[in-house]
Order: sequence, then structure tokens, then C-alpha cells
Amino acid sequence: MTASDEFISKTALKRAFETQGAFVSPGAERRFASRAAAYEASEDIPSNPNLGATFASVAARRYGRRAVLQGALSVAALTAAGGALGVLAPSRPAAAAGSAADSRYVWDEIVHGVDETHHVAPGHSAEVLIRWGDPIFPDSPAFDPQNQSAAAQSRQFGYNNDFIGYVGLPFGSDNPDHGLLCVNHEYTSEEVMFPDGGASVTEERVAIEMAAHGGSIVEVRRENGRWAVVRDGRYNRRITAGGTYMDLTGPAAGHDRLKTSVDQTGAKCIGTINNCAGGITPWGTYLMAEENFHGYFSGILDGHPEERNYKRYAVGEAWYPWAKYHKRFDVNAEPNEANRFGWVVEVDVLDPASTPKKRTAMGRFKHEGAEPIVNGDGRVVVYMGDDERFDYLYKFVSERRYDPDDRAANLGILDDGTLFVARFDESGTVDWLPLIHGYGPLTAANGFASQADVLIETRVAADLLGATPMDRPEDVDPHPETGKVYVMLTNNSKRMADAVDAANPRAANEFGHIIEMTPPNGDHDQLTYRWDMLIVAGDPAKPEVGAKYHQATSANGWFGSPDNCTVDAAGRFWVSTDQGSAWSKSGTADGLWGVETEGDLRGYSKMFFRAPIGAEVCGPRFTPDTTALFVAVQHPATDGTKAYKGFEKDSTFAEPATRWPDFTDGMPPRPSVLVIQKDGGGVIGS
Ligand code: FEO
Ligand code: CA
Ligand code: CA
Repeated sequence: MTASDEFISKTALKRAFETQGAFVSPGAERRFASRAAAYEASEDIPSNPNLGATFASVAARRYGRRAVLQGALSVAALTAAGGALGVLAPSRPAAAAGSAADSRYVWDEIVHGVDETHHVAPGHSAEVLIRWGDPIFPDSPAFDPQNQSAAAQSRQFGYNNDFIGYVGLPFGSDNPDHGLLCVNHEYTSEEVMFPDGGASVTEERVAIEMAAHGGSIVEVRRENGRWAVVRDGRYNRRITAGGTYMDLTGPAAGHDRLKTSVDQTGAKCIGTINNCAGGITPWGTYLMAEENFHGYFSGILDGHPEERNYKRYAVGEAWYPWAKYHKRFDVNAEPNEANRFGWVVEVDVLDPASTPKKRTAMGRFKHEGAEPIVNGDGRVVVYMGDDERFDYLYKFVSERRYDPDDRAANLGILDDGTLFVARFDESGTVDWLPLIHGYGPLTAANGFASQADVLIETRVAADLLGATPMDRPEDVDPHPETGKVYVMLTNNSKRMADAVDAANPRAANEFGHIIEMTPPNGDHDQLTYRWDMLIVAGDPAKPEVGAKYHQATSANGWFGSPDNCTVDAAGRFWVSTDQGSAWSKSGTADGLWGVETEGDLRGYSKMFFRAPIGAEVCGPRFTPDTTALFVAVQHPATDGTKAYKGFEKDSTFAEPATRWPDFTDGMPPRPSVLVIQKDGGGVIGS
């Protein structure tokens, strides 16, 4: 089945929209699909104008960051040279040495497959810690899926848990038994969320959806080997799309393009949406990355003052009917509201009354995640993917240095710094191109009158700099021990054979790959790194897939569509996947794998956890001592269930492909955070 076939088959939201003529426009049927299918279909016409251009072969360029800031850099140096590139993958061949017996991933591997529940490696147990609808405050109502309300949802754990952060308590400790869990709620899946499958669009339904978005901060504690939510935790907090006021800060704050009819300051906004992955800073803040913000805004773009900008982000064909009740989501009624989304939001987890900050210095795009690392010189570096086919990889480097003794100063550190976009060279270098107003093509002649314009239209600026269009950059994690940086490229079925390049070497890339970047001397402020391919994902037993792993990887050790990743305290690297409906091609559900990154076993991977039908696996996060692992099982029962043997239709609330994790009649499937521990205690996977 093609993505568009599946997408057309999504009926619940379609019915809802069909009752509202105002939302229907030619070609807008994509909006009717569930978010997952819409995501696949919405990129039939990629918004990146560089699509199809062969990767420019350029000499490795080295220029000082200070020189850039001082204006010494010429336009020519910032403009990519032309030139065709033959298909050349610099990945090293699978190592001949190394055997699975030498791996640090020590467990009996589970096997590929798809069924209605989760599976974890023998000798470990996975328990539900918190689910959609669970109370997180003393006064939270009990979950009642038949009688949902926005008031209840705003006091309960939200939908579609994605990013998971852990902050030990008291703050500053590495307490492995007591901490704050910071969890993003990316989006809602109406077809299995509401008893009517989302058929009726009402103001209350929209309010419930808005309250189910955002994030949760919840205190969790382990006692006698069992984890539980502390409902009266003093830091517990819900952040939502409709009920949480936020500040816009940094270079774009206050700009005319951020002003609306209700906010003449251009620096105050309501809510956050589509928070996918994220990060935790050393100063105790939680970074929530706003990803597919375009999916909430309706309207006509032709002649719109933000036409170039909004078309580059595919704003205008909303997946959600929020504009019916909130005119700010109608780009014709409120032309600038969509400029107030697509940022990284920073939340002080130690002050539940604090106002979250949208840090505009970090750029506006479909942020997958925002994992920070403190560089050797004290600057804070945050790596970020823009998750769309043919979009880019970025890093932000703070101007000021992290001060472990001045938390107040650190709270503003992400407002001042330089945003860079990556250009990968076939020779194995990656150049970081700064997005600074006035340099290279980022001038008034190209529509950039200020740094605010550069940040608001980050994608257009990066296009002009000649960044490398990637196969959907998702999570990016620096390894704290080796200094190497791992980039998840999840897939890109739209890449044509004449548009492959060294860093995106497969046409119709169904299964994605993982790139490893090496900053010289571990210095994340450098402008040129080396890069190499770690894994080309998919089934290596099928030659047509072109997958590459270590030869010792078992028949269950390969995976498709790497999405999130993490490094545990022992330095082991872990990858979770999001294949969408493509699991029907791989034959296995999404899951979590350990991946060797160094030595003779580099590129060896091993399966540890598997999700139920229709779910992706997000957020993997270990406690500081690696004795507990939190995983987010997102959107169970939703993706590609027509291909699930014995079910063969789209899930609905009344009839889902699985009722995981409760398996109770009448109870819908529920996105949930699981906590995995080794039976009897000890380090996970040891
Ligand atoms: Fe929300 Fe890029 O996954
Ligand atoms: Ca993701
Ligand atoms: Ca994903």
C-alpha cells in the first residue's frame, strides 16, 4: 500500500472535516488524515527548493568563528560552490573483527515481530509508570475516557508521550531513586482517543486536544524497587497548548512579525504545540522542541504577507480544526501567530510558576530535539534536527559560558549565540555555516532586514547558505565521553536516484541511517568536523535494501527508521525507532536497540525492547546509575494497522488493534511511559 492509499483510508478526522465546508479546500484532503499518515503524505511536494540539486562538491573551508562575527567573511566564502557529485559513501566497511560475545550489550536478544503488547529482554521487567489520563495532582479527576473534559485533561498526564527527561532530586544530585520526569505530549490521535473516533468537532473536543498537548513535569520515586508518581510533588506541572502563557525571548522577540491582535509586544504567547523530542540542561531546565507546528494552522497563503515563509514550512493545511474556535490558528485572521511557533521552549523545572521561554536565537523550524552539551570552553552547544524530508541539521553555540555557580545567569544563556547549519562534504567533512544577518546571502536583498528575519525564516536562510538537505534529521545526541555526535536520519522515501549524496546515500530511503560526527579535539565550537556513517538501517539480509551493520549483528539486531537516541552512564548508545506504517515492510514493530559505536564491534546492534502494534518508541532515558530505563510508547494501535494480520483495518476507539496497556474492555489504547528494570536490580542490559 502506498502512503497516499493509507492516508485516504483514514476516515475519522475526514468525516469531521467534511462537516465543515470552511475547512475544505482543493488538495486539502491531507488534513483529514491522522497526523501520522498526514506526515507521510504532506511531503509529496517537499517545500525545500533545493530538492533535487546534486550536492555541491566544495573544498573544505576553515574560517574562524570570530572572523565571521567580525565581518571578515566574504559572501563568496558563504556561498556553496557548484558541481556534481557522484554517489560516494565514505562509510567504512563492516569491521572484520569482533564477535557478539565481546559486546557490552549483555542480554538474550528478543526477536522481531508484531503483536498487541510490549516485549523486553529476558531478566528485565517493564511496568507502566504513567499513562495518558493518569492523575498527576492531588485533585486530578480519575481518568474516564467516556466523559473526557478539558478541565480534567489539564490536570492529567497528556497524550502521545515523546521526549523524556530526568532531573534528580534534590536538584544537583544524581539521585537514581527520586527525580522529576519531564515528558512531552506531542499530538493527539482522535480516532482512538474519543468515543466517537473524533467524528464530532466541538469546542470542548478542541479544548481537550489542546489540554492533551504540551508537557508534564511529574515527581517520581523508587521505593523497594517499585516506581510511582508522587501526586503531591511540589514541582508537578502541566504545560498545555491553550492554558500556559509563554514569553518569546532572544533576537526575534518583539519583532513586528511576532505581533498579533492580542499581543502588541510580540513577546507573549499562549501555549506550545507538537513538542517532540527535547533536552535537559545542566542548570535544571527542560527544552521542549516544537516540531510540526504547521499542522495546526489553516488558511490561504497566496498573497499572504508571510507567503514565502509559511510555504517553506507548509503552513496552511491544518491537521486539527482548532481555527474553528480559536482564530489565532487561522493565518488569514491572525497573520503572525504561526511565527510564534516552531521554536525551542525552555522551562525551569524548579519553579512550577515560571513562565516558559521560547528561545528564538535557536531558530524556527520543525525542531525534533534539543540536546545540549557544555563544551570544553564552557559554551553551551545544542544540536537540533529539522525533521522533514530534505531539511537540515543545526547547532546552536552560546555566546556566554555556563557557570555552575550562577543558575540565574544560565537561565538566559540560550538567548545569545550563533545558529549554524550543516553542509556535509563527500570527503568526510561537515562544515557549519553560520546564520548571521548581513553575512553571505542573508541580507536585505534576500528579504532579511535583521537577525530576527533570519531566525523567523531559518529554513529560507539555510537554503541560501547551501546546507545539505537530509533524510529527515531527528534526534541528535552528543556522546559525553567520546565527544562524537550521533544524528538520526529516519527515512526519506522521496529522495530520487539523481539526488543522493554521500551523507544521504540511498534513493527512496525507507529505513534511514545514523551519521557520526567527530568535532576536532572534542571541541563543539569548531566550524569543521569529520563525519562518517555508523549504520545504514534496514534488513541487511535483503541486498536491495543496502543496509550496513557490523557483521556480528543478528537477524534481530537490525532496525528501521532511527528516531530517538540516548547514551547511558556506561557510555553505551541506544536507539529507538519510528517506522510509521512502514513496519509492514520491515515485518517488525518499533523498538529499542543497543548500538556499539567504538572498536571492533562498531556498528553492531542488538534488540532490547519491542512496542505493541501501531506504536513508536520515544524518549529513552536512563536514571543516572543506569538501573532504570524510561521509555515512551507513543500512539499505540494507530500506525498501519490495516497491514496487521487478523485486524486489517484502521483502529478506532471502539475497535482498536490493541487495548494496550490496560487490556480492559471499553478502555482505549493509552500512550504510556514504561519503566524497565533488571529483575533483582542492577545495571540494565548487563
Ligand atoms: Fe515527532 Fe520527528 O518525530
Ligand atoms: Ca521523533
Ligand atoms: Ca518520528
